Amino acid sequence: MIPSSWTSILLAACAFSTAFASPTSRFQRTKRLTPKYFTEPGGSLALSHYDQRYFKGEISYEEHRDVLRQLIRSYLTTLHEHGVETWLAHGTLLGWWWNGQIMPWDYDLDVQVSNNTMTWLGENMNRTEHTHSFNDVSKTYLLDVNPHHVDLTRGDGMNIIDARWIDTSNGMFIDITAVRERDADMPGTWSCKNKHRYGSQDLWPMRVTEFEGVKARIPYNFEDILRGEYGDKSLVVEEFQGHRWNRDINEWVKMTDDEMKQRREAAEQRKREELEKKGQN
Ligand SMILES: *[C@@H]1O[C@H](CO)[C@@H](O)[C@H](O)[C@H]1NC(C)=O
Ligand SMILES: *[C@@H]1O[C@H](CO)[C@@H](O)[C@H](O)[C@H]1NC(C)=O
Repeated sequence: MIPSSWTSILLAACAFSTAFASPTSRFQRTKRLTPKYFTEPGGSLALSHYDQRYFKGEISYEEHRDVLRQLIRSYLTTLHEHGVETWLAHGTLLGWWWNGQIMPWDYDLDVQVSNNTMTWLGENMNRTEHTHSFNDVSKTYLLDVNPHHVDLTRGDGMNIIDARWIDTSNGMFIDITAVRERDADMPGTWSCKNKHRYGSQDLWPMRVTEFEGVKARIPYNFEDILRGEYGDKSLVVEEFQGHRWNRDINEWVKMTDDEMKQRREAAEQRKREELEKKGQN
């Protein structure tokens, strides 16, 4: 979920800052920090996508999308069955915008709920396990609610993620964050602890749609939200993170090594031509 040119934007994203145990956060740990409720193996960006308790080893590129698909399907189905409102957010919402699917370079998923819903989940469904079968494979998912979900501010940043839906077979997860009208001076403005802001009218009424083949909700003003978070380009550029948008099949496809090489050479050629042109003028 961290395409390089989006890194700066994503540095601010709710999900990212806690998940990635950077050298800085290790340094900060020498000061007294609040214990982190959710922990990851850490040490690299790749390892920040697993819950420490269930981590057995890195999931390969070939396997990870299926794992994430079953995660989001089981989550959306379960919450829907309990009549709980939740919606797609961040990179997951962007994937929905393109084709209703997880973008193949994403390694985790993001959803949001309101603070009232998060309180309900904490009181009624914390640490519940849910078994789902897909293609005859049965898996158990854990809903785990961080007691820090009630914190009004991000504090020292150790507990920005309010809850997680975790695949207990490998530790991959969905980050669940709550938005609330956090600032008494700004009624109608909803934000997560990491300061992503949304107007009530941008969120509600939610639109009902499909994501990875199951019923899902998205914010009413999804397009403005995406433009605001990732820039206009994110809805236009058809090449990203070594993937290319294939218009015929409506899917992102991984570029082959040859393709990547051709792209690089074409870019270098363009550069040379530009330089020559400048030389002539
Ligand atoms: C949700 O947030 C609102 C506004 O900050 C607050 O009034 C309400 O009590 C919160 N709900 C719960 C269950 O904490
Ligand atoms: C969820 O359960 C765990 C384990 O009992 C507990 O540590 C945590 O505080 C609970 N979360 C909430 C929101 O109560």
